[in-house]
Amino acid sequence: MATNPYRPGPGLPPSVLAGREAALQEARLAADAVASGLGTAPLVYFGLRGVGKTVLIRAIARELERNRFFPLIIEAEKGRAFSRTFTEVVGQRIDDFAALGTQVGRGAKRLLGVLPTVSFDLPNETGSISLARAKIDENPNVKSLVDSLTELNAELSRARRPLLIAVDEAQEADLATLRAVLRVVHASMGTERAILGIFAGTPTLRAHLGRAHTYAERFSFSELTMLDTEDTRRALVVPAEQYDTQFTSEALERLVNVTSGYPYFVQLYGAYSWQTHQNHIIETRDVESAIPLVEEKLDAGFYRVRLDRLSPREVAYVMALGSLGPGIHGVSEVAARLGRSVRDVSSVRNRLIEKGMLYSPLPGAIAFSVPLFERFIERHRTELERVLVTEPYDRRKSNYRLAPGAPGKSLEPTLRPARAEFKARAKRLRNETQGRIVAESAALIREARDER
Ligand SMILES: Nc1ncnc2c1ncn2[C@@H]1O[C@H](COP(=O)(O)OP(=O)(O)OP(=O)(O)O)[C@@H](O)[C@H]1O
Ligand SMILES: [Mg+2]
Repeated sequence: MATNPYRPGPGLPPSVLAGREAALQEARLAADAVASGLGTAPLVYFGLRGVGKTVLIRAIARELERNRFFPLIIEAEKGRAFSRTFTEVVGQRIDDFAALGTQVGRGAKRLLGVLPTVSFDLPNETGSISLARAKIDENPNVKSLVDSLTELNAELSRARRPLLIAVDEAQEADLATLRAVLRVVHASMGTERAILGIFAGTPTLRAHLGRAHTYAERFSFSELTMLDTEDTRRALVVPAEQYDTQFTSEALERLVNVTSGYPYFVQLYGAYSWQTHQNHIIETRDVESAIPLVEEKLDAGFYRVRLDRLSPREVAYVMALGSLGPGIHGVSEVAARLGRSVRDVSSVRNRLIEKGMLYSPLPGAIAFSVPLFERFIERHRTELERVLVTEPYDRRKSNYRLAPGAPGKSLEPTLRPARAEFKARAKRLRNETQGRIVAESAALIREARDER
């Protein structure tokens, strides 16, 4: 069988980048403005996990590099100083900088000098070498960083190579370093050395950039969403066509439906449906046999790893949110499902936001950061409820305590009424109408749309 033409996985470039023509066009216009010395506001792409942010910014960088831009793509990481990641990227490109001339090479080295680096002290002891770790996670002096990045940009501009700084997962970049980068980009506007800044990340990125610099108000924000029906079809059909393979129309519609147009799911369901096809035709039976395999894979990995990081209380919160159906919901609605006040559950909600599980698209509203998480919850509702019966939402009120002789830390309810009460509550939750959206959350959704 021919090679599988689908590319499921973080950052894996799809054979066709469907539905992103407008974003690519916007980047071309921005690049023209920069190259002609006008400058432009940085571009920001935000969206849920797996929606295609990384592949989009890499595609933009590749295209602009062919038009003389010098791209620096830096992916920020949770819990790691952004300045350190920045150093690594500049370090890896040092030969590319040097190839543009001595001055550019020197500029890059100076920049490396102000960023914290991994260095080791080698004491003068014969026979043994002990390596002491230098202070690698310190933030650099912001002023020196601003000065040397500005100088490097000036050298690149003399070599007629406009700088493109693309920061992926930018919501993880520490504010001090991010602020320095934004200052340099901002100051370059309206000069002949304008820098093109591109930032990509989860929906919390907007607020993060706002905290880093007031200039962020003027950035050009675009939300990357799921692909529409036509683009989903194209994302499925074009890769198969490269191997003279077609979908039956029924198989294609089933895939459009089951993927909901989420790019990662399009690749994943496409890849599994491909595996069983014969005679250059992908039929409904190929798709039907792929569905349980993909769900199993997603449930065991993509969704499960996120769920495993949650405490039982957090699980109760995500179950309540999931029971409200897809999309954005009011925080008061979720609290009501839990039989609590908004205030009671605010700390749990904040922890879920910190863990990257949820995000708040606007004040008073909450949603999953991972696409179709509510479907995962539905598939595993019974199992999840069992976890919660073992340790219900509010342990203080339930009088649960460790049963005498209970092994390890397992909590065994010793008070039956508490369990009965929780079960009744769980049953109420199940029975309530799934798709009901209260006026408040409907208004929130409208507002969110208007804002976009
Ligand atoms: N426009 C597109 N058309 C078809 N497939 C796409 C498109 N964009 C992304 N994909 C596919 O979706 C998957 C996820 O892409 P990518 O890693 O860029 O998403 P992401 O938004 O950066 O995710 P994360 O938030 O996890 O970093 C990859 O398998 C990629 O091939
Ligand atoms: Mg990514």
